[in-house]
Amino acid sequence: MTNDTDIASRAAVLAEELQDRDKLLKDLLTFSHKLLLTSDKKKLYRICDQTAKDLLHLDFSTLLLLGDNDNSLVIRHTIGFPPTMVDSYILEEGQGLSTIVLKEKRMITVIDHETEQRFTVPPIVFKKKITSAICAPMMLGDEVLGVLIGHTLQRHVFNETEQIIYQSLANQSAVAIKNTTSYSALKEKETLLSTIIDTVRNPIFCKDNKGGCLACNSAFADFVGCSCDEIINCGTKNAAQLKLAEVYEESDQSLWERGGRQQYETKVEHADGSIRDVLLCKASFCNDSGEVAGIVGTIMDITEQKQEAEEKEQILLQMQHVQKLESLGVLAGGIAHDFNNLLMAILGNADLALAEISPFSAARHNLEAIESASRRAADLCRQMLAYSGKGKFVIQQLNCNELVEEMTHMLEISISKKAVMKFNLADKVPPIEADATQIRQIIMNLVINASDAINDKSGIISITTGAMECDRDYLTETYIDEQLPEGIYSYIEVADTGCGMDEETKAKMFDPFFTTKFTGRGLGMAAVLGIVRGHNGALKIYSEPSRGTTIKLIFPIAANQDVKEKNEGRQDKNWQGKGLILLVDDEETIRAVGRQMLEYLGFSVITAADGQEATKTFKARAAEINLVLMDLTMPHMDGEEAYREMRRIDSTVQVIMASGYNEQEVTQRFVGKGLAGFIQKPFMIDDLRDILRQSMIT
Ligand SMILES: Nc1ncnc2c1ncn2[C@@H]1O[C@H](COP(=O)(O)OP(=O)(O)OP(=O)(O)O)[C@@H](O)[C@H]1O
Ligand SMILES: [Mg+2]
Repeated sequence: MTNDTDIASRAAVLAEELQDRDKLLKDLLTFSHKLLLTSDKKKLYRICDQTAKDLLHLDFSTLLLLGDNDNSLVIRHTIGFPPTMVDSYILEEGQGLSTIVLKEKRMITVIDHETEQRFTVPPIVFKKKITSAICAPMMLGDEVLGVLIGHTLQRHVFNETEQIIYQSLANQSAVAIKNTTSYSALKEKETLLSTIIDTVRNPIFCKDNKGGCLACNSAFADFVGCSCDEIINCGTKNAAQLKLAEVYEESDQSLWERGGRQQYETKVEHADGSIRDVLLCKASFCNDSGEVAGIVGTIMDITEQKQEAEEKEQILLQMQHVQKLESLGVLAGGIAHDFNNLLMAILGNADLALAEISPFSAARHNLEAIESASRRAADLCRQMLAYSGKGKFVIQQLNCNELVEEMTHMLEISISKKAVMKFNLADKVPPIEADATQIRQIIMNLVINASDAINDKSGIISITTGAMECDRDYLTETYIDEQLPEGIYSYIEVADTGCGMDEETKAKMFDPFFTTKFTGRGLGMAAVLGIVRGHNGALKIYSEPSRGTTIKLIFPIAANQDVKEKNEGRQDKNWQGKGLILLVDDEETIRAVGRQMLEYLGFSVITAADGQEATKTFKARAAEINLVLMDLTMPHMDGEEAYREMRRIDSTVQVIMASGYNEQEVTQRFVGKGLAGFIQKPFMIDDLRDILRQSMIT
């Protein structure tokens, strides 16, 4: 009976124990589960303390973690002790049970603090009337993170099961705390990183291999024109991003296949619709298995830098171009000047000889050949002078319409038989300030080129005149590099239906000696450019291969719009003058030929070799001298200075200035100063007769 009762009571005890263990196991599982779900540190500490308190029926449960150094402990959570102790109560080495457990890395229990010998019991323990304690190190492998300590008011001996459970609780807490700490550190890093990325003003993106966007910064969002969320959630469904993605798919392919980095310049459409030059830098990144998992990229908008660089390059090219024009101009002008003096001697002598010899002489034909070859040479010189911009001699108010009308006949006989001339002259064209000879020369050059372009096919050459308002945009597109002022310009336009030009020809057409023609000299357009520049004008070219060419010349209109009377043309081949002429030139040959020409025209002649000699002679014989024919460029004293001196001696002095070359500014200085006339070297008897007759009449 007793046995039966024993067995029954033992069975009951066992059943109760089993039930207890079952509950314990359940509680421990719940605890683990709760730990897994918690990433908030404070909450985690509370769960640890609460579970330990419940499972071991403790009155106090406290969690302490390592402090600043590895020997101190700080209370991070407590149930039972005052909350003010949390985060502020620090136990240094040797203070209380906890630091011994920390040092020895093993669990220690206290049955009664009253009899405790191993450490000094902190006063608060007695104050709280605590009797027993259990303390376990929170272990993570060999590392101790802190300790878990429990207290009871009643005396309690912690049995083995309780100790095992308590240690297990402490260790599990260690893992969970470590994970949470790492997790929050990671989160902190992530926040830091995303703040940095978002602060960067260059667009940054990160995409996966399906074209989706994993992350991006707000600069990228601005560039694409939607929010970061939209970009990340909608992936490539977003239109703007699709555009970007398409462009780079090909180059991305190599990153997906081989990984690495890429950097290249490309163009991208910005959300505002503008096309941007960008520098794209991309790099792949891999997953744990070493496969390329995504691509990170940055976009640097280099539109402005590129524009600046292009502008600089353009300015440099323009500068080089201007310098080239100038140095070639100096060369051309110099050669032309010297040649004109030589031609003056050749042409003048031939002309005089022709005038003297019998109309039936056998030599007449040779003299005429000399004359015509010299005229062609003089023509070339004129082109070169025009190119150099130093051939602008007689500035007057000119009406482009009248000029073109005068030339009609000459133009018509100069062009190919198959070409038809058309004139579209505006009703009224404001006059320009220009040298008529030179404007005639450019019209001629353009028309001859047009005729050459039409060649032996049939075609139309049209000359159009008019006036137009030119704004900055229009002027910057013209061929001349100088900054011309905005305003009204008169224009002359020569268009043809000829062969047109490709880009290469167009780029070189103004280069001196550039020609695509067998017999061409390549000076026509160079001269046009020189003259237009010299007149502060500009030109525009429209040309397409096999379509034709249009060249438009614009000239600033004259400041005072009063149209002057035209010069009289050639007259009276038999005119003879009389009186004394002072001929001044530093070239002996010119003095010789000039004297003969003047004498032929009926004058008496005295000569001087430079300005000084001339003024001296003039001073001595001012009363006798009817007119002075003087070269402009001479050593010691040039024509301009000598002219001034002579006017001082006699303000009514008649001076005709001659030059094989002249600087525009110098000539302009003569305007309004009573110069009797200007004659360009080389000149012939007829030219001389005309100018002398005109100045002697007036
Ligand atoms: N209206 C045009 N149509 C087609 N090509 C043209 C036209 N005007 C000029 N060009 C091209 O520009 C080149 C240079 O012209 P430019 O007048 O300076 O020299 P050129 O006519 O060849 O010789 P020249 O010194 O006898 O005038 C020409 O050879 C030709 O290729
Ligand atoms: Mg030509």
